[in-house]
Amino acid sequence: MSDYLEMDSDLEAFARDVAEGLSKPQKSLPCRYFYDARGSQLFEEITALDEYYPTRTEASILRDCAADIAARTQPGSCLVEFGSGSSAKTQIVLDALPQLAAYVAIDVSESALVEARARLAQLYPLLRVECVVADFGADFTMPRDLLGSPRLGFFPGSTIGNFEPVQAQKLLGHFAQTLGPCSRLIIGVDLEKDPAILLPAYDDARGVTAAFNLNLLARINRELGADFDLTAFRHLARWNANAGRVEMHLESLRDQSVRVQGDVVHFARGETIHTENSHKWKVDRFGALAQRSGWLSGSVWCDSARLFSVHELHCAV
Ligand code: SAH
Ligand code: AVI
Repeated sequence: MSDYLEMDSDLEAFARDVAEGLSKPQKSLPCRYFYDARGSQLFEEITALDEYYPTRTEASILRDCAADIAARTQPGSCLVEFGSGSSAKTQIVLDALPQLAAYVAIDVSESALVEARARLAQLYPLLRVECVVADFGADFTMPRDLLGSPRLGFFPGSTIGNFEPVQAQKLLGHFAQTLGPCSRLIIGVDLEKDPAILLPAYDDARGVTAAFNLNLLARINRELGADFDLTAFRHLARWNANAGRVEMHLESLRDQSVRVQGDVVHFARGETIHTENSHKWKVDRFGALAQRSGWLSGSVWCDSARLFSVHELHCAV
């Protein structure tokens, strides 16, 4: 697709990251690789699960604060979304915003962008939509004719929670550089809560999250020619109280060897591959992190049960 910017050597980077992650004492894989076409579909299924409170809670907060966000957004602004996925929540913001110059959607999942673009074209035929297949942590330049437009960044979903605090700070700093002076960022941040609510959100009764986690091994088999037996691993979700995060792992159900890109990787029974962190924040601690990253805290909106928060940040660079 000519107007989709492609990352160079995706497969080489995937191969390198898998080899590196599986050679560590605690084996791990970067969670951004969950999102191939199947992974993006499974994530959409997760967002509709009863147990997965973040999506519906954040959507309801956004419906409540969209008019406030819109009132502070100049006509002719450019909405830039990081990790846009299906752009479902974007619609809430788009419906409220004044005339935008463009909506720029950045995601590693090309299939998610293709589907979102088609849906948005039907719903908003006059809206200019620019899709960028890229890692949002990488350098990115705005389309040239949009360089002068005011920027409103959008980073919903608590995707920031998938980064350890030091990395989250770096990523927010990178967004400040990318969006530039006078920009704002609307960011969804999941809050600390009882593990009795958190754990089912990451280990649902229907096994959709388990399928999402295991799909990473299917992707490695397909794209890197590995021979993981998916029935020999099981999905695990754990609350790590010290780190304030839910962790997802894949546990080896037996001693086994797996061939990955010509190497043989050994797994002891009970050994895990750590596949994702989902950090849960307190509102004030997140505000302090934002401040250390080049942003000033503005409004913060929460639901009445304080499950989730949406922060408005003002660029300080
Ligand atoms: N914003 C949506 C989707 C969240 S799921 C929502 O709130 O529901 C996380 C999204 O970020 C996925 O679409 C995934 O493909 C994308 N993603 C994850 N890591 C990424 C990265 N490093 N760079 C770009 N996109 C990424
Ligand atoms: C995208 N991200 C914020 C989700 C989360 O909650 O950490 C991904 C996810 N993992 C399991 N379920 C959903």
